[in-house]
Amino acid sequence: MKIKSLFQCSVCRHEEPKWLGRCPECGSWNSFDETFPSKTAPKKENEVLPIPLNAVETREDFRFDSGLGEVNRVLGGGIMKGSAVLIGGEPGIGKSTLMLQMAAQAETQGRILYVSGEESSGQIKTRADRLGIPAQRGERIEVFSGTEVAEILRICDRVKPVLLIIDSIQTLYSEEIGSVPGSVNQIKICSQELIDWVKRKGAALFLVGHVTKEGFIAGPKVIEHMVDTVLYFDTASSDVRILRAAKNRFGSIDEIGIFQMGEQGLSQVENPARLFLFQREGNSPPGVAVVPVYEGSRVLLVEIQSLVVPAKGGVSRVFSERIDAGRVARMAAVLEKHCQVRFADQDVYVNVGGGIRIGEVGIELPLCLALYSARADLPLPELTAVVGEVSLTGELRPVAHLLRRLRAVKEMSYRRLVHPKDTIVPDLADYCRPVRTIQEAVRSCFV
Ligand code: TYD
Ligand code: MG
Repeated sequence: MKIKSLFQCSVCRHEEPKWLGRCPECGSWNSFDETFPSKTAPKKENEVLPIPLNAVETREDFRFDSGLGEVNRVLGGGIMKGSAVLIGGEPGIGKSTLMLQMAAQAETQGRILYVSGEESSGQIKTRADRLGIPAQRGERIEVFSGTEVAEILRICDRVKPVLLIIDSIQTLYSEEIGSVPGSVNQIKICSQELIDWVKRKGAALFLVGHVTKEGFIAGPKVIEHMVDTVLYFDTASSDVRILRAAKNRFGSIDEIGIFQMGEQGLSQVENPARLFLFQREGNSPPGVAVVPVYEGSRVLLVEIQSLVVPAKGGVSRVFSERIDAGRVARMAAVLEKHCQVRFADQDVYVNVGGGIRIGEVGIELPLCLALYSARADLPLPELTAVVGEVSLTGELRPVAHLLRRLRAVKEMSYRRLVHPKDTIVPDLADYCRPVRTIQEAVRSCFV
C-alpha cells in the first residue's frame, strides 16, 4: 500500500495535504517539506509509551465483592475495578431488582450511584422496601433519576462512586448529539462517555440494557464490543433466573448464576443440583432421561423430556426450544440408522425440565435415550442418569469431567451413570455403566 505523503511546515509543524508556497498557519514562505504521516506524527504531551510485558505491574486489589456470590461467580470472582459490564435481558425479567439488591450488598465497598431513567427516586425506594432492604442500608447508595449524560457525569464527579449503575442505556441521551434517546448513536456515545469515566477513576460500571424478543436493534448489541463483560439475564422456568456471561475479558464465560424470583426479590440458589429435576414419586415415565450437566464449576442434574407422536399431515417436524432443534434431528437420524426406530412419520417434541437451555455435547446420549424411550414407550431404568456425545456413526465420545459428574450422580442418590467408555474411576466403579456405541447404550437401558 502506498503511504500518502503530507507536507509539513518546517517552522510551525503545520500540516497540509498539498505543497503550499506560504504556510497558512505561521505565514512562513517556502517552509513546506514533504513528509510521511507515520514518521512525523507529533509526540503528544504525557504520551504513554509501551513497556516490556514483564515490567507491567499487576494489582492484587483489582476486584471487589459485589456482595452477591452468584454475580461474583459469573464475573469471575467479583467486580473488576475500571470495568464496564453490560447486563441485558427482557423487560420485566428482574434486571433492576438485581441491580438494587447488588447495590444494597456492595455499599460496604464504597459509594454507589444508581441512576435510573425509568423510575423516580420514590419508586426505587418503594422497591427497596419491598425487597426488605433494611433502613440502615442505603446510606451510601445515591439514587438519581435522570437521563442526560453530561449531568450524570457531573454527578459522578461529585459523588465519586466505586460503582455506577445506569438503568437503562436506552434512556440515556446527550444534548450534543442530534438524535432521540435510544437511537444507536445516542446509546454508543453516552455509553462511551460513561465507560471513559469509570476507566479513568477505577470505578466499575453496570449498564442495564433491555433486549426484546424481536432482536437487538438499537439495543445492547450495539455496545457489546465497547464493554468488558456482557451478561444476559434470562428466565428458565417461571421463577428461576439465570445470569450468563456472553463475553468476559476478566474470566471465563462458563459459569452461570442462578436465582429465584420471589416476593422479596431475587434469592441466590447456591446449590442448584436438584433445581432442574422433576419431583415425582416412583419411576420416571417413558420419554425422560436425566443428565448431569457441567455448568461452570457446578454439576446440575437436568431432566430431558421428549414426546413422539404421529406427524400431523405426515411430515415429520421437530419442536425443541431448549436444545438446538438441529441436534435433536441429528440424534433422531442416528437412532433411525443404528437402532431401527422410525421417526420419519413422527413429530418430535423436546423440552428440558426447569426450562434451562443446554448446549453442551454431553446431552446427546441422554437425548437419544429419551427419544428412544418415548418412541418405544419404555421408561429408562430407575435412578439412572446418562451422559455422552454421539457421533453420526453411532459411536460415543467421552465427555469432560466424568468424575465430577459421577460424584454428583452419587450425591443425588442416583444409582448409575450410563456414559461413554473411558478410564474407569475405581472408587465410583459401582456407579459406572460404560458403553461404546448407541446400540450398547440402548441395550443397557431397555433390555
Ligand atoms: P424488574 O427488576 O423491574 O425487571 P426489569 O428491570 O428487568 O424490567 O422486575 C420486574 C418483575 O419482577 C415484576 O414483574 C415484578 C417482579 N418482582 C417480584 O416478583 N418480586 C419482587 O420482589 C420484585 C421487586 C419484583
Ligand atoms: Mg427495570
